[in-house]
Amino acid sequence: MKTYMSDQEDQMTLEPQGEDAPVQDQSAVDALETVIEVDHVNFAYIPGTDVLKDISMNINKGEVTAFIGPSGCGKSTLLRCLNRMNDLIPKAGLTQGEIRILGTDIYHPEVDVIELRKHVGMVFQKYNPFPKSIYENVAYGLRIQGVNRKSVLDEAVESSLKLAGLWDEVKDRLDSSGLGLSGGQQQRLCIARTIAVQPKIILMDEPCSALDPISTTIIEELITQLKQEFTIVIVTHNMQQATRVSDRTAYFYLGELIEMDVTTKIFTNPSQQKTEEYISGRFG
Ligand SMILES: Nc1ncnc2c1ncn2[C@@H]1O[C@H](COP(=O)(O)OP(=O)(O)OP(=O)(O)O)[C@@H](O)[C@H]1O
Ligand SMILES: [Mg+2]
Repeated sequence: MKTYMSDQEDQMTLEPQGEDAPVQDQSAVDALETVIEVDHVNFAYIPGTDVLKDISMNINKGEVTAFIGPSGCGKSTLLRCLNRMNDLIPKAGLTQGEIRILGTDIYHPEVDVIELRKHVGMVFQKYNPFPKSIYENVAYGLRIQGVNRKSVLDEAVESSLKLAGLWDEVKDRLDSSGLGLSGGQQQRLCIARTIAVQPKIILMDEPCSALDPISTTIIEELITQLKQEFTIVIVTHNMQQATRVSDRTAYFYLGELIEMDVTTKIFTNPSQQKTEEYISGRFG
């Protein structure tokens, strides 16, 4: 079985600069380490009908990248391609191109999909805790991996809940059902469950769309915290949210990537007319 990404982390460097290349600040170079490369990807649910068309983009380590665009333009489809969630749909698949994560072609036949999803976690629109205790929800992924030692699980549960900003609210009722929490707390529980297995990348598909404004603010602040440790890709319909949480924004329309750039540029001075029309509310 092909090991997935095990030895490749150390290779995550930018192309060497030529002697004449301008000297760059090292922190800027580190910030631009590419972790996801989408390379001329087409995708179809039904053979012959591509819903993603020739998508190419690089997603940088430690950044939050937002996918925006009108309903049906392919945001969730592309997001789900990044951890092969679309594999579950018969006949669906890439019809062209390649997606590399940390340098590995994730659609290579020898890639272990379970292993891939350990590295690329996902948080869904509708929070979906398991009907288990708060503790077991967070410990779930580790137990699946065969971790059973109580001290290890205790430590992981506590640190994940702290990172998800939920610890203080639940530390006295870890044995209560995860389903007994409020919606915003359940979504943070799902985030804690995702980060407990220490993924490199977290995919979020409209994680706040079922939440009230206060819970939304809490999750947005959490996303900003989490990017210090994880690379995050978020689909959102809320353009204010994209401006608040993301470093880069990709605008999609009818299965095409119209433009991807630094978020402030997309929302103040986009290069494409179609983007301008969408962000100014004239369309979409
Ligand atoms: N399981 C599926 N089977 C067939 N077609 C699908 C399936 N899921 C999505 N599609 C189609 O693929 C296209 C892209 O859908 P997708 O869900 O990626 O859009 P989206 O940008 O996430 O939209 P929204 O903002 O409404 O969530 C749409 O035309 C949609 O109808
Ligand atoms: Mg969607």
